[in-house]
Amino acid sequence: MSEADKADNLRINGERLWQSLMDMHKIGATEKGGNCRLALTDLDREGRDLFVRWCKEAGCTITVDKMGNIFARRPGRDDSLPPVMMGSHLDTQPTGGKFDGVYGVLAGLEVVRTLNDMNYETNAPIEVAVWTNEEGSRFAPAMVASGVFAGVFDLDYGLSRKDVDGRTMGEELQRIGYAGEAEVGGRPIRAFFEAHIEQGPILEAEEKVIGVVTHAQGQRWYEITLTGQEAHAGPTPMARRRDALVGAARVIEAVNRIGLENQPLACATVGMVQVHPNSRNVIPGRVFLTVDFRHPEDEVLSRMDAALRAEVEEISARGGLELQFEQIWYSPPIAFDAACVAAVRRAAEANGYPHRDIVSGAGHDACYISRVAPTGMVFVPCENGISHNEIENAKPEDLAAGCQVLLQAVLERADAD
Ligand code: GLV
Ligand code: MN
Ligand code: MN
Repeated sequence: MSEADKADNLRINGERLWQSLMDMHKIGATEKGGNCRLALTDLDREGRDLFVRWCKEAGCTITVDKMGNIFARRPGRDDSLPPVMMGSHLDTQPTGGKFDGVYGVLAGLEVVRTLNDMNYETNAPIEVAVWTNEEGSRFAPAMVASGVFAGVFDLDYGLSRKDVDGRTMGEELQRIGYAGEAEVGGRPIRAFFEAHIEQGPILEAEEKVIGVVTHAQGQRWYEITLTGQEAHAGPTPMARRRDALVGAARVIEAVNRIGLENQPLACATVGMVQVHPNSRNVIPGRVFLTVDFRHPEDEVLSRMDAALRAEVEEISARGGLELQFEQIWYSPPIAFDAACVAAVRRAAEANGYPHRDIVSGAGHDACYISRVAPTGMVFVPCENGISHNEIENAKPEDLAAGCQVLLQAVLERADAD
């Protein structure tokens, strides 16, 4: 059978994909059916080890770079060509689901296994990537290691990101044995494809199986510290207080209002608040909080930024609070590569899967990789659009459909002249 005939017959194995997802889920499984596999913890190491073992069993060679990004390579007929790469992340949120990120990695592995089953030789090599610390939950910002790969951050910046206990990514990579030798980035990729659950409600509501991702919205992340004065909750009259938590409450309300004022598309979230000293009869002297702003249009994101700055200035002046304010991350809105987007759409059409174009609300490693390689994404629905939650769920048949689309889009790019 010719390679072209074989290509028409290649079908991914949905049951094998599901089984791999469920096996990976066991590492850091939570009581409510989700996962806690924070970046660079022992559980992250276990997940990485399992992925590496599976890839070696599938005949791949493994490279790990200095940010701990893992690349599993299946050679091509012309192995001098840049690889077509698939991938996503294995780290999760503290109360994360079992599909966010993991699906894109294991769908890539399933593509490799399917090619092996049919002895199919692609022209260009194929690689499956695991990007370190996509979530930005343990170490901010998100997508930091794909960002270093894409030249957005330098290596020292990436390795020096700290968790709340002051441990750096560099130390933790050494500790878990994933501080690799390879330089980060600087090598060509023919095309990159990331499969992911949608993490929102659109595909399910419209009964579509495939989201053809054309764009991703922009993000701005901030860290704010308000400092007032700790004092006794009994003898201190209300008029004399400099209560940092009251200031933080006003900031939270302002963030929410800025989001509502920029509908229909803006999102605005305070996701983390740390109160000092956090004692019930001490007026809070210091509060640290984070802000996450998102919008598909840069102009609107800039307006939201200006509004936030004005609000926090006014709130801290009114409360007699000292203000530290920093935008720690800006990820601009992006458009994915037209040819990769078209390859995903063609693959969905060829299989008769109901599909629609969609803008990603979440950040993905694909956003940064799109700066250095033609990039596309495949979305599949998730139950009630819920993600970053232990109850995150997706249907095996939808996950299989997304993987089939991934396979065909990858083949189109790997075998193109
Ligand atoms: C990544 O999970 C994000 O916050 O979009
Ligand atoms: Mn993700
Ligand atoms: Mn996520």
